[in-house]
Amino acid sequence: MKALILVGGFGTRLRPLTLTLPKPLVEFGNRPMILHQIEALAAAGVTDIVLAVNYRPEIMTAALKKYEKEYNIKIEFSVETEPLGTAGPLKLAEKILGKDDAPFFVLNSDVICDFPFKDLAAFHKSHGGEGTIVVTKVEEPSKYGVVVHKPDSPSRIDRFVEKPVEFVGNRINAGIYILNPSVLNRIELRPTSIEQETFPAIVKDGQLHSFDLEGFWMDVGQPKDFLTGTCLYLSSLTKQGSKLLTPTSEPFVHQGNVMVDPSAKIGKNCKIGPNVTIGPNVVIGDGVRLQRCVLLAGSRVKEHAWIKSTIVGWNSTVGRWARMENVSVLGDDVTIGDEIYCNGASVLPHKTIKQNVDVPAIIM
Ligand code: GDD
Ligand code: MG
Repeated sequence: MKALILVGGFGTRLRPLTLTLPKPLVEFGNRPMILHQIEALAAAGVTDIVLAVNYRPEIMTAALKKYEKEYNIKIEFSVETEPLGTAGPLKLAEKILGKDDAPFFVLNSDVICDFPFKDLAAFHKSHGGEGTIVVTKVEEPSKYGVVVHKPDSPSRIDRFVEKPVEFVGNRINAGIYILNPSVLNRIELRPTSIEQETFPAIVKDGQLHSFDLEGFWMDVGQPKDFLTGTCLYLSSLTKQGSKLLTPTSEPFVHQGNVMVDPSAKIGKNCKIGPNVTIGPNVVIGDGVRLQRCVLLAGSRVKEHAWIKSTIVGWNSTVGRWARMENVSVLGDDVTIGDEIYCNGASVLPHKTIKQNVDVPAIIM
């Protein structure tokens, strides 16, 4: 089977992390975001994966080519010279996606869930329409694409409204599709949106169906949601009894949902959890308190720091007795001084913070 992952876009909402790495390579649960998708696609029998890239393709190519062998798949990079939106890249990859009559998967690169590819393919085959999109329920649908059904037809989509201004429903596009190659005939090779142009056209012909997702789902393309997504993902691993988690028998683990890379060093008398990921080569001093946070590779937290709802970027340092909270995000190589307080601070790479950030602010 074939799949295309949309990995373009500038990831501006995930700054300052995306000033250093393209969004799909930012580690979620200690692995590049896109690897969760590649792994799930490979497990469902996908052998050809197209990565539709427009932003810094060389970094993506270097980082991802090595997974071809590991997962026994072929990864092809389809590079846009100008951003083609969410539909144009499908047309650009027509030679691969349309090489046979079999349907192909399409994914946004920033969504995390228990990917239901096998069931999705079976459902798609059963209704015979041109496309199926995975839907999930959210409380705040305005920042997503919303699907509306007729009461008598639970799966055939009646309307697709991207980023609705007025409430039309709360079942939203989860950013995961399976489409017949015939859909490629509906798309022109130009910057164009699958949500604004292609889906409404397929809906008009009564050919677009929905598939309800079970379990958790999150678009982790912004810091607040990245943290929420991390909690949901870790909870799901706990439910599955996953070996990826650090056992709760470790004295520093508090309430579980903790993932510590084996190369990380943890000091004495730390209290870590719930909902924490600690990346490779992280060093944690004595008496540190961590909850609901992500510490990326090479970062360092000095003694007695207190960190909650925060993403600590690669190679950053948090000082002694520092306190960080309320969706603070440190870019690469940031230094937070001793005893500093950060409330919703978003700090650009290579900065040193010597004064408290009392109200949410971008520090550049
Ligand atoms: N190749 C390529 N080229 N990819 C692109 C481009 C482009 O020009 N523009 C955006 N993308 C990729 C992004 O990297 C992302 O993986 C995906 O397309 C969707 O773009 P986002 O910018 O993340 O869109 P969104 O989150 O506002 O909305 C989309 O996702 C929601 C679910 O998370 C829509 O598909 C909504 O309908 C959906 O509900
Ligand atoms: Mg998104």
